[in-house]
Amino acid sequence: MESQQKLPLSEARAIISKFTTTCHLTQQIICFFSVGSLRNGAAGFQRVKRGWVWNQFFVLEEYMGSDPQYVGKLHTDLDKGDSSVKYTLSGEGAGSIFTIDQTTGDIHALRSLDREEKPYYTLRAQAVDIDTNIPLEPESEFVIKVQDINDNEPKFLEGPYTASVPEMSPVGTYVTQVTATDADDPTYGNSARVVYSILHGQPYFSVDPKTGVIKTALPNMDREVKEEYQVLIQAKDMGGQLGGLAGTTIVNITLSDVNDNPPRFSKSKYWYLVPESSAVGSAVGRIKAHDLDIGRNAEVEYIIVPGDGGAMFDITTNEHNQEGIIILKRPLDYESKKAYTFKVEATNAHLDPRFQSFGAFKDTATVKINVLDVDEPPVFNKPSYVMDVYEDTPAGTIIGAVTAQDLDASGSPVRYSIDWKSDLDSYFDIDPVEGTISTNELLDRENIAQHNISVVATKLSDPVLTSRVAVTVHVLDINEFPPELASPYETFVCENSKVGQVIQVFSAKDQDLPSAGQQFSFRTHRIPLRTNHFFGMNVIQRRSGFRRRLQEIYLLPVVIEDNGYPPKSSTGTLTIRVCGCELDGSLLTCSAEAIFLPVGLSTGALIAILLCIIILLGNICFQRV
Ligand SMILES: *[C@@H]1O[C@H](CO)[C@@H](O)[C@H](O)[C@H]1NC(C)=O
Repeated sequence: MESQQKLPLSEARAIISKFTTTCHLTQQIICFFSVGSLRNGAAGFQRVKRGWVWNQFFVLEEYMGSDPQYVGKLHTDLDKGDSSVKYTLSGEGAGSIFTIDQTTGDIHALRSLDREEKPYYTLRAQAVDIDTNIPLEPESEFVIKVQDINDNEPKFLEGPYTASVPEMSPVGTYVTQVTATDADDPTYGNSARVVYSILHGQPYFSVDPKTGVIKTALPNMDREVKEEYQVLIQAKDMGGQLGGLAGTTIVNITLSDVNDNPPRFSKSKYWYLVPESSAVGSAVGRIKAHDLDIGRNAEVEYIIVPGDGGAMFDITTNEHNQEGIIILKRPLDYESKKAYTFKVEATNAHLDPRFQSFGAFKDTATVKINVLDVDEPPVFNKPSYVMDVYEDTPAGTIIGAVTAQDLDASGSPVRYSIDWKSDLDSYFDIDPVEGTISTNELLDRENIAQHNISVVATKLSDPVLTSRVAVTVHVLDINEFPPELASPYETFVCENSKVGQVIQVFSAKDQDLPSAGQQFSFRTHRIPLRTNHFFGMNVIQRRSGFRRRLQEIYLLPVVIEDNGYPPKSSTGTLTIRVCGCELDGSLLTCSAEAIFLPVGLSTGALIAILLCIIILLGNICFQRV
């Protein structure tokens, strides 16, 4: 608004005190004045510009008086006190909260106000001619400010608080921070100046008066002694002075665990009675070292101190209850060792180096295990047995034996039997006392080549205690065919050949199966022939000077024997003719009936022989060759 002028308060005050007797600033008054006339210092006959001199009004909040609270006064210097000026009020709360006396310009507050609800009201004032309603002054805006009183106590909006701090923390360790807010005016007085103090919770914790930070105040607070603390914190305004308003909150502080305790066995000796029949891997005892800490810090590891027990037992931790489970690692045997004594150590799985120096961080207990004798079944001296029998073996022949013993102290005799389900056709018998196994009927390899029977050993003193063993019986093939020469052999020897000359190589065959592994031996006149490989034999000349004239044909008997069961042999005959030969050993002439085999024959001689055969009928062969 053009006509409105705001002046600094000091200037306005000076002007008003000088020129305007109706404006007493000791009262709360808003005055109209002539800016132009004042500035000029000239006689005020002409109003050049007019404006409100105004100060803001104050009204106390929470006013409890019975009469309306006086707020202030509007005034214009045009008002001569003759009731020709009418003051009006509009804006926030006009008419409802604030009223104005039209004539005097006095403003009152009709009800008590709350600064925290609404700190100021913006209103407009006007002075009009009471008759014409024509504004005498321009309308102007002013503020009624509600003045704070300390009517709000500090409040912990986030309380109650929970916090945690590790046990054994040093003094001054931060725990948490609490904050109280005060709704009163922080810019005016101390109504909103809050100071924190601890009402309950000393000497364990402290609170910073200004910041509300809570810290530990006692060293070595031990969770295992006291875990939960309830701390009462007060916030007081007016800087904590007497008469200030206060609010409180509870802070629940939990000490969190640190590993400041070692595991401890509740007793130093544990004693167990364990049957020797206990299965390897089974639990034979449980021990417990208790740890006052919790969670990770209470995790316990057990070890067996190297010595007597380590080879036989293991120890593991049950992760649910931290028990140590002693486990059997190898079979117990009462007969060989009746008791074990060993030490077990318990330590924390996760050590805290800060507390290791506090003392021994492990505990030791002694475990004694007595082995309990248990009647055990007999034990075979072999894990399994293999026996061989030929297929023609007569019924009743013993083919082998099994042996089982009662290793218990009782040393009971043992009785043997064949599990009938493993020998449905009763091929075999067993001597119940001796354990010898015999055939019950003839076995046929071509029908069943391998019998798998199960032999049961029973303790005579306690027939419930039995053990069994597998017996494999291989049925062996017997030797049915004698070996014989691979083919009928006929050969010759030269009249002029020397001793040691190889006359013939021959071989033998056998119809038995399998041929692999069969070995033959040869002899003639009871003299073994020199072997050059399994199936081949050389016939060697043993003397010289054969004469066709004296004997043209030799028949050489050869005995061939195999190594089967039972051994078989046959006698074959080698036909050896005496022939005339060249000096190099090639054949020249034989007797007419001779049949030649192409051994050492020269091509020329072979052609001559063939010619001889062709023209044999003409009886001229010998003359031509
Ligand atoms: C015995 O066991 C062997 C190997 O398992 C098998 O080949 C054979 O057939 C079995 N003999 C009988 C009679 O079941």
